[in-house]
Amino acid sequence: MDNLVKKMTSRASEQEAQIAELKQQIRELQNGGTEEWEKVPPELEKLQTENQKLKYRILHLKRSIDEEESQSGGDTLGNNVCDRLTEIFRTALRVAYPSLTNAPVSVQPSQQERFGDYQCNNAMIIAQQLKAQGSPVSPRVVAQQILANIPPNDVIEKVDIAGPGFINIHLKKSYIAPLITGILTQGVLPPPLKKKKRVVIDMSSPNIAKEMHIGHLRSTIIGESISRLMEFVGHDVLKVNHLGDWGTQFGMLITHLADQFPNYLNESPPIQDLQKFYKESKVRFDGDEEFKKRAYQMVVRLQGGEPAIIKAWELICDISKREFNKIYERLDVKNLIPRGESFYQERMNVVVKKLEAGGYLELDEGRKIMFTPDSTVPLTIVKSDGGYTYDTSDMATLYQRVHEEKGEWLIYVVDMGQGTHFDAIFSGCRKVGWYDPKNVRIEHVGFGVVLGEDKKKFKTRSGDVVKLVELLDEGLRRSLETLKEKGRDEVLTAEELKAAQESVAYGCIKYADLCHRRTNDYIFSFDKMLDDKGNTAVYLLYAYTRIRSIARNAKVLSKTLQEAAKTMSIPVDHPKEWKLAKCLARFPEVISRTLDDLFIHSICDYLYEVSNTFTEFYEVCYCITKNKQTGEIESVDTGRLLLCEATAAIMAKGFDILGLHPVEKM
Ligand code: ARG
Repeated sequence: MDNLVKKMTSRASEQEAQIAELKQQIRELQNGGTEEWEKVPPELEKLQTENQKLKYRILHLKRSIDEEESQSGGDTLGNNVCDRLTEIFRTALRVAYPSLTNAPVSVQPSQQERFGDYQCNNAMIIAQQLKAQGSPVSPRVVAQQILANIPPNDVIEKVDIAGPGFINIHLKKSYIAPLITGILTQGVLPPPLKKKKRVVIDMSSPNIAKEMHIGHLRSTIIGESISRLMEFVGHDVLKVNHLGDWGTQFGMLITHLADQFPNYLNESPPIQDLQKFYKESKVRFDGDEEFKKRAYQMVVRLQGGEPAIIKAWELICDISKREFNKIYERLDVKNLIPRGESFYQERMNVVVKKLEAGGYLELDEGRKIMFTPDSTVPLTIVKSDGGYTYDTSDMATLYQRVHEEKGEWLIYVVDMGQGTHFDAIFSGCRKVGWYDPKNVRIEHVGFGVVLGEDKKKFKTRSGDVVKLVELLDEGLRRSLETLKEKGRDEVLTAEELKAAQESVAYGCIKYADLCHRRTNDYIFSFDKMLDDKGNTAVYLLYAYTRIRSIARNAKVLSKTLQEAAKTMSIPVDHPKEWKLAKCLARFPEVISRTLDDLFIHSICDYLYEVSNTFTEFYEVCYCITKNKQTGEIESVDTGRLLLCEATAAIMAKGFDILGLHPVEKM
């Protein structure tokens, strides 16, 4: 593009010289007194308009160059093939049709090989835009014009036009092969980050003294994966567990605690089952007026911050948190900061004052409510008894995360049932000016419900809520069963078997959740998730282990492969080698897209595709040749082994983002 600007600039100065010369001629002639020349001659007028247009185009191009450089840091489109192509096509379009300032340019991988490696299908829409500007051309001509203006580059081998104007792009092998080498020599790198951001993720968020249910499990799994994705690309991530640790239910819990364990201040109460304890206190609360009265008084004492009562509250919270932590440990969720609703008590006072001072609150039957532009239901900020609500706490949460945490991207991983709540909160905060969507990205990452195999709400046979600990235990039991059915217990050591059992059990539960579009409901079925065929964790984990074992079976040391990666180029001549290499090179763009929409299932789909593409490659491209009689290794194709290693590296990185732990042997 720089070259283009240079050419245009020199053309513009040529024109300017011509203009100056013409003007000089006119002046001389006018001095000679000829009336006719007082009007600007058409020749000069034409030249002047052209010159103006050219200058405008130069300005526009320069501005675009500046924008791109500030966005991507110059030459840092790096490993993202799709972005590189998009850039090339954007430049071509800009040169071909400078009058179109906001024409769409999008490039995507082709679904079918006969349509090239990538395609660009914007010619139709561009033709429509040109027609609207009064210069109708056919989409095919648009496509031709774009192709004619593609700048020289090291990415595209050839392009062709199909049908009414689809552009099929074929990549250069010399562009893709080094990208695969890079995976081996530098590791699997994320796409370049445009700007590092402070990301705050609200995830898991169960309620104290209540069972952590399957919805919280979804939030934990999805939130964890999003946070791993964010960390991988280089953002600064804060994971917050927005525990339900405040509210009137604590009045009855603490009253019951004080009755049952009067000595609780000195001796930690041996409560094993907090849910049972909760139920007991609820029975008393519902059936005993006197207890109820004391429970209400207890709420007031708790809110007043009476030390002995706070201590009781802490005890109850600690028991719950210990239970939750067992789940987090098993699911390998780290650095999740417990910061429940109680944390916002003081801050809610401040928030209410701010809203009141700003004149945002209206009185409605004793309540203080706030209308927001994008929601029909108002937020309830203060109840008629003066207490606060879930709305108040989330107003305070958002304020705290933007203004204290300096969050630039807030993510709330909460079931879709709470969608209207979050819409209203976000809209309310925008109304008050607490954040500017231009600088702070805030979104509710919703998800659907988990169903049982009967397609009804997920429950145990007896109709109770499924306890997560029991669910994880069953996962362990069933994964061990599956491994034994395959006779793995006979070949693996006890330690390896245990590692495989855990990898499969937790992996399959996480993967089953992540591989569905999160906004959909999904059916929880151990049978399905433990299947070793299809898009399952088990299938992928096996595929990975097999790929890892190829080099081991060939008796090639990983050090030897590392050395080879530095000197040898990656083989891409065989169609299946080429297909695999292109597939692996797509990893950064899959990551980029997932960062945009936070739909993690794209990563699962991609890994499944990698695994299938690898199988196609491995079936026809021999990596090791063995003597048919003796079974001894006769030759090893090191280049192909490098492709195997790169495949394994990509899969391992994908697993890491999904929270799956592959094992070397299973
Ligand atoms: N504890 C809530 C529940 O169980 C989820 C909290 C989600 N986070 C939030 N900031 N509202 O439904």
